[in-house]
Amino acid sequence: EGDPRVKRIASAIRVVPDFPKPGILFQDITTLLLDHKAFQDSIDIFVERFKDKNITVVAGIEARGFIFGPPIALAIGAKFVPMRKPRKLPGEVIFEEYVLEYGTDRIEMHVGAVEAGDRALVVDDLIATGGTLCAAIRLLERAGAAVIECACIIEIPELKGREKLGGKPLCIIVETE
Ligand code: PRP
Repeated sequence: EGDPRVKRIASAIRVVPDFPKPGILFQDITTLLLDHKAFQDSIDIFVERFKDKNITVVAGIEARGFIFGPPIALAIGAKFVPMRKPRKLPGEVIFEEYVLEYGTDRIEMHVGAVEAGDRALVVDDLIATGGTLCAAIRLLERAGAAVIECACIIEIPELKGREKLGGKPLCIIVETE
């Protein structure tokens, strides 16, 4: 990309073979968090891109969207809304289901957290098949928000998750296999 910060961020991500099961090459961002310069750079890259887009809500996807979303939200002056796994939120929720390898999962959001007219940025650590991000977009749009863009630290281009986003822009920092 030409951005000198990207190489440091990429090398701070640990790649763990056969986790959580055989054949999966796990992208572990906990090592990125240990390098405060690389962590800060990753936040700065997104903040530079999104600060002048009138984003009113940053929606972070459980679990690692809860790490990268809030510092972006604070820096651009937007509210933060957690999109959670089932049965974690105490209030009334709306949810969207998405397909897994075996069965389905869902993400939930509090009713009223997002309103008509909100301009949303969706944040997660990684896009693989794109199913999770796609469900997040549907949920936000049902709540009346305009989804302006999605942001992930890592993309696995081979899985073509980007194609599931219905043309929504996706900003990523690192591509991997
Ligand atoms: C990972 C990752 C994304 C999602 C991407 O979460 O953090 O949220 O998978 O996959 P997709 O593009 O194929 O939908 P994981 O399922 O490991 O859940 P966790 O964050 O609760 O550990």
